Amino acid sequence: MAVCPSGSIEHSRLKAENLVKIEDRSPVQAEAFTAFLRQRRSVRVYKDRPVDRELVERVCSAAGYAPTGAFQGLGWVRKVTVVSGEKRMQEVKEATVEYMRKLRKLLEGVLMKAAARFSDSAKGGMVTLPDVRMRLAEWEQGRDAITYDAPCAVFVSASKQAVTPREDCDAALMNIILMAQASGLGTCWNGWLGHAATGDHVSGADALGRLLGLPADHKIVEAATLGWPGIKLHSVPWRETEIRWID
Ligand SMILES: Cc1cc2nc3c(=O)[nH]c(=O)nc-3n(C[C@H](O)[C@H](O)[C@H](O)COP(=O)(O)O)c2cc1C
Repeated sequence: MAVCPSGSIEHSRLKAENLVKIEDRSPVQAEAFTAFLRQRRSVRVYKDRPVDRELVERVCSAAGYAPTGAFQGLGWVRKVTVVSGEKRMQEVKEATVEYMRKLRKLLEGVLMKAAARFSDSAKGGMVTLPDVRMRLAEWEQGRDAITYDAPCAVFVSASKQAVTPREDCDAALMNIILMAQASGLGTCWNGWLGHAATGDHVSGADALGRLLGLPADHKIVEAATLGWPGIKLHSVPWRETEIRWID
């Protein structure tokens, strides 16, 4: 349907009126895009200023243009849950702290230390312990090193039944992050919010999942904080990419 010049091809699941005409074939030049990508940094200082609902929706709608491993239309509609406002964000933080406290207890237990000697996944969990301790210590001192007092958080979720739910969520969140940047907003990918939303590895840690009201089968969540950046960077670090050729 997208290549037929006369519009004579039909598809049972794709309506012709849902195809958007390509008007500008090169809206972004490669050099400008590289500069744009270079300038993306995680933002952990936000202005005390709400983000307009319409703008958040425009930013989140970029999720739908990300690649997906879904086939036969399954999972083509991305699920994005937005939390905004001081009261709701406070609830998100508290639910995440509850999850992290339970996780800390689990990781500090003797069973976990023993398991880490034999299991890579237990070892991987132990690696996060200093980070969990640091963020909880900050919280106990009255500082928010979890959402950095962002006015907003976005959660992309997918059913475990999907073909590639983790990758779908990752790709969709990256689109949101880039779209936010293009709109002058700052974001920080937030693994803790995502883990807390699914209660990863911690039984009974479902407070954030309940707060978000995610569909029962949504067991994969990726999240980011969102808001107006509170600081302006004058430079960005050089980032190395190792490229290997086999030809
Ligand atoms: C999967 C994932 C989870 C992340 N989780 C957190 C997090 O919980 N808290 C945080 O401050 N940053 C988090 N980050 C952001 C990284 O720390 C950040 O992207 C990295 O240090 C590179 O810095 P940059 O984004 O400014 O280029 C996460 C990034 C990724 C990809």
